[in-house]
Amino acid sequence: PKELPLKGQKVVVTAGPTRELIDPVRFLTNFSSGKMGYAMAEAAANLGAETVLISGPVSIDAPSNVTLIPVESAKEMYDAVMEQFYTASIVIKTAAVADYKPKEVHSQKMKKQQGDSMIVLERTSDILAELGKRKTNQLLIGFAAETNDVVHYAKSKLEKKNADYIVANDVTEAGSGFGTETNSVTLVGKDDVELHFAHLPKKELALQLLQTILKLENDELK
Ligand code: PMT
Repeated sequence: PKELPLKGQKVVVTAGPTRELIDPVRFLTNFSSGKMGYAMAEAAANLGAETVLISGPVSIDAPSNVTLIPVESAKEMYDAVMEQFYTASIVIKTAAVADYKPKEVHSQKMKKQQGDSMIVLERTSDILAELGKRKTNQLLIGFAAETNDVVHYAKSKLEKKNADYIVANDVTEAGSGFGTETNSVTLVGKDDVELHFAHLPKKELALQLLQTILKLENDELK
C-alpha cells in the first residue's frame, strides 16, 4: 500500500493457539497455525502501524516489521494483552484461545492407571469480553470460528463481547479456517454491516479486511 493510514497508531494482534498444561509433558490445544493472525499483523504494519503480535506457539516466523511477544497459555495471553491494551488504538483477536483448561496441573507426569481416567476442566477468562468491558477509544476486532449458523453466532458475539467487528470464519468450508493458506470470512459489524470475502490468500484477505474496516470507520466520522 502506498498510503500509511495507520501511521502513529499502535495495533495489537493475537494469533495462534494456546496450550493448557495437564502435566509437564501434556497439554490441550487446537489446530490454529497462526497464519491468519500473522497476516493481520503484517497487514497492520504495512499500513504504517506500530504493531505488537502476541502469539501462542506456532511454527511460522513473525513478520520482520512487528514486535513479537510469545506466550503459551490463555492466562499468559490475557496478561500480555492487558499490558498492551491501554496504549493501543486497535486490538485484533485472531488467536484461538482455549475456552477450558485443566483445573489441576499435575506437577509430575501422570501415570497410567487401570480403566478410564478423567480430567476436570474449568473455564479460562474470555480476553475479548474483558476488553469489551474495559474499552475506551480502542477499536475491537474479534474473530469467530464457527461450524454452523456462522453469521448468526458472529452477531451474537459482537453484542455479547461488545466488539466493534467480528470476522466470522466458517471452519468447515474447504480452503478455509485452521491451517489453510486461504480463507473465506464474513465481516460483521454494527448497523447491519455484513460483507463476505471468499477464498483469498490469508495475507491478501488480511489487507482487504483492515482496509475495509478503516473505510467503514472513516465514513462514520464524516
Ligand atoms: O491460525 P490459522 O490456522 O490461520 O487459523 C485461523 C483461525 C481459524 C484460528 C482464525 O481465523 C479464527 O477464527 N480465530 C478465532 C478462533 C476462536 O477461538 O473463535 P471463538 O469463537 O472461540 O472466539 C471468539 C473470539 O473470542 C476470538 O476473537 C477469540 O480470540 C476470543 N476469545 C475466545 C476465548 C477466550 N478465552 N478469550 C478470547 O479472547
